[in-house]
Amino acid sequence: MIIIGIGLLLFVVAGNKGNTEAINLLNSFCNNCIIEYYGEDKGYGIKANKNIVHGETLFKLPFKYMITSFDYYPWTTYFENSDQSFKLIPRLIYEKYVNPVYSPLKSLIDFYPKYYNGFYNMTEKNLQYFYSTFGENMKFESPIDCKVAKGYYFMKARKIPDIEKCSECLNDDVFMWACQAVLTRAFNFHKVNYYKLALHQNLPKEQNVPGSVLLPGIDVFNHYPRKINNNAISVRYDIQYAENPPQAIAKSDRNTVKGEEIYISYGPKTNFELAILHGFILENNSDDLQFIAVLSNINNCQNYEPVQKYCPFAIKKSVLNYEIINYLYNKITQKNTEIKDIYKEINDINNYQEMNNFRLVFQGYRNSIVTYKIYKCRKDFRESLKLVKSQEGKDYYEKLVDKLCYLSNLDSFKHLKVVDRVLLKGLYERVFS
Ligand SMILES: *[C@@H]1O[C@H](CO)[C@@H](O)[C@H](O)[C@H]1NC(C)=O
Ligand SMILES: *[C@@H]1O[C@H](CO)[C@@H](O)[C@H](O)[C@H]1NC(C)=O
Repeated sequence: MIIIGIGLLLFVVAGNKGNTEAINLLNSFCNNCIIEYYGEDKGYGIKANKNIVHGETLFKLPFKYMITSFDYYPWTTYFENSDQSFKLIPRLIYEKYVNPVYSPLKSLIDFYPKYYNGFYNMTEKNLQYFYSTFGENMKFESPIDCKVAKGYYFMKARKIPDIEKCSECLNDDVFMWACQAVLTRAFNFHKVNYYKLALHQNLPKEQNVPGSVLLPGIDVFNHYPRKINNNAISVRYDIQYAENPPQAIAKSDRNTVKGEEIYISYGPKTNFELAILHGFILENNSDDLQFIAVLSNINNCQNYEPVQKYCPFAIKKSVLNYEIINYLYNKITQKNTEIKDIYKEINDINNYQEMNNFRLVFQGYRNSIVTYKIYKCRKDFRESLKLVKSQEGKDYYEKLVDKLCYLSNLDSFKHLKVVDRVLLKGLYERVFS
């Protein structure tokens, strides 16, 4: 008993030591910020130690802690012709399980989460629930399909001499871990930057190719959409690469009050994308979109779907979509005029025919939301609300799917109200003023 106790104790202490080392290192790269644990679902994030303003430098990661798809390491030749973002997967496995040298970089890799939430973490039961809620033919586009990539990796990895001495290297779960780490954490990184940072040279222009990079620490910032504020200085979130010393620099894309978590935007992501890629959704996601189909027998729009014969449009819950109005108006009238202000147009109507055209436009718009939603939740608004309210006995992903369904219904409903309000207001002014 005593021996087991000591063994466990040592194990726990050793585990913590690794984390402490990684956290201390990362904190030393963080400007006025500190790594913070936000609980089991969310994991680590970064907290502001003082008020942070938009544009301020948050994090400087020295080049030696970056992992790029252009690096040379002992397995390079076995994966040479693979996709650039894929290349980071065997590299992670190599660094974590094969590289015999214990380095600070290794402690950063060991600090990566053991599990990633998202599509690949769902059980068969979760997936079935997901498909029964949103339909079987959900399209899911991802930079790497981890299931396909796994077969490819195993085929290539088996050619590495002595690979069987590393039991983790041919393990399904290990591969899925590395694949999800890369899928959720990699940034774009061009070869020109690799030359600049690693070799201190310029790259001949024609050889510049896009690649990928892992930026341990910079990937600890959690995602939250940026508030759209027209008066704000426009500092887009983007990693910058500097030469002296060679490093990656992350700047703040918003203001943050001392003590609050510092968020960055990973780019505009809908709740669907967040759910699949990262396993969470945001209640007030200003980047969220719903997709609707306007049926059409001919290809007369961008992104026409020739098989099911429709034009897809994206709607945001609170903004009238003029692309749809114009598409419908042009289709109905065969006129190539552009409508920019619907109130003005309605106000200028001076004959019955024109009035009827607008009625058809709004009928089409409305109908599409009600009837032809793409990725429509099969449960209606009331039913989905009920599901969200009574979630006893459901697991994490089932609750997530319920909430996704509810929010998707709610947002279409809100958009419908916007459309109806415009129409009513327009008609009211027209008829009664
Ligand atoms: C999903 O993550 C949890 C921990 O959050 C883990 O226990 C489980 O094994 C993971 N499942 C899969 C299929 O990866
Ligand atoms: C989302 O916004 C609504 C209304 O503005 C607010 O009541 C709610 O608390 C917000 N939820 C979150 C999680 O921020």
